[in-house]
Amino acid sequence: MAATNSLDGLEPTLIRDGRFDLKLRLDLPNQAEREAILTSMLKTGSHAAPAIAEISRRTPGWSPARLRALIDRAILQAGGRPVTDDDILAALEESGGKDRPQVEAVNWDDVVLPGPVISDIKAILRLLVPGTAEQLRVPAPTGLVLVGQPGTGKTLVARLIASQAMRSFYAITPSDVLSGVVGGSVKRLAEVFARAREHAPSILFFDEMDALFPAVTGYGSQHDIQLVEQALIEISELRSEHQVFLIGTTNDLSRIDPRILRGGRFSEKIEIGLPDVEGYRRLLEMTFGPTQLASDLTTPRLVEMVRGLSPAEITAVVTAAKRFALARTPEQATALLPIEERDVEQAIARIR
Ligand SMILES: Nc1ncnc2c1ncn2[C@@H]1O[C@H](COP(=O)(O)OP(=O)(O)O)[C@@H](O)[C@H]1O
Ligand SMILES: [Mg+2]
Repeated sequence: MAATNSLDGLEPTLIRDGRFDLKLRLDLPNQAEREAILTSMLKTGSHAAPAIAEISRRTPGWSPARLRALIDRAILQAGGRPVTDDDILAALEESGGKDRPQVEAVNWDDVVLPGPVISDIKAILRLLVPGTAEQLRVPAPTGLVLVGQPGTGKTLVARLIASQAMRSFYAITPSDVLSGVVGGSVKRLAEVFARAREHAPSILFFDEMDALFPAVTGYGSQHDIQLVEQALIEISELRSEHQVFLIGTTNDLSRIDPRILRGGRFSEKIEIGLPDVEGYRRLLEMTFGPTQLASDLTTPRLVEMVRGLSPAEITAVVTAAKRFALARTPEQATALLPIEERDVEQAIARIR
C-alpha cells in the first residue's frame, strides 16, 4: 500500500497493474463531506448542528488536515473546558485572515449613508464571506471603487468593510509610498500584494487612488510611472483563488490611470454623494449627542444651515460650535451652555 500527492510524477513501471492493482483517488471534501468530517472530529455531540453547517459552508477547498488544525485551534482556545461553537467560530475567524485590520473598528451605527449605498455594501460584504458566492452561484466581486467628494465617508466605508468582513486587511495610502525613493515604493507595493495573497482571504485597500496611480499627463514622474506599472502587473496576476478583494477610493475617477480600472478587477463602483435631509438629521444627532441646544435651534433649522456641507465638515462644524458655546460658559459651570444659532453660524463661517 502506498500514498502520493501526484500519480503522474511516478515511474510507471512502479505502479503498473500487478504491483499496485488498485488506485484510490481521494479528493478534497465537498460541503456535505466537510460537515461529516467535522461532526466526527467533534464526536461528543455537544455541538449544535448550525455551527458545523456554517463552518462547512465557509471552508470550501479545505482539506481534512486543515479542518483538523481548525478544531485543534478551537480546543486550544477552550483551554481545557469543553469546546463550544463560539470557540470553533473564533478559530475560523482567526484562520480566515490572520492579519486583522489595523484600523479602529467601524460599525454600521457610525456611518450615515443613503439606503441604496447601504444595500450595495451589504451585498458585497455577504459575498465576501468565503464560500457564499459559490453556494449562491453569484459571481464573487473582485474589487470596489468608492467615488465621492472629500469628506463624504469613503475612507470610513473602507474601514467599515474592513471591520465587518472576516478577512485580513492591508492598506496603502499615498503617504506610505510617495515619501520614499522609487525602488522603495515599488518594492513596498509588491510586498503588500504578496502578503495579501499569503494571508487570504484578504482585503487590499488603496486610499486616494488618484494620488497613488495618477493618469500620466505627458510628463509624469518616473516614480508614478513605475508604481503604476508595478500595480498593473500585480493586479493582472491576481487570480480568483487568491481571494484578494481590492478597495480603492477617489474624488475623481478620471484622474486615475485608466489602465488600473480597465482590467475589470474593480468590479464594483459605489458613488457616495451628500446626505439627504434624513441623513443630515442623523449626522447632527450623532455629532451633537446629548449636547443641549437652544430652544429656537430646531433640527429642521440646523439641517437647513448645514445643507451642502459634507459629513466630515459637519463634524468639524459641531466641534467648533461647542467651542464657541464653551467660550460663553462660565468657569464654574458644570455643563455647557446650550448651543445657539450664532455658534453654528460662526462655525460654518470658519470652515467656508
Ligand atoms: N457618511 C458619513 N457618516 C458618518 N460620518 C462621516 C461620514 N462621512 C464622513 N464622516 C466623518 O468624517 C470623517 C472623515 O471622513 P472620510 O471617510 O475620511 O472622508 P473621505 O475619505 O470621503 O474624504 C470620518 O472619520 C467621520 O468622522
Ligand atoms: Mg479619505
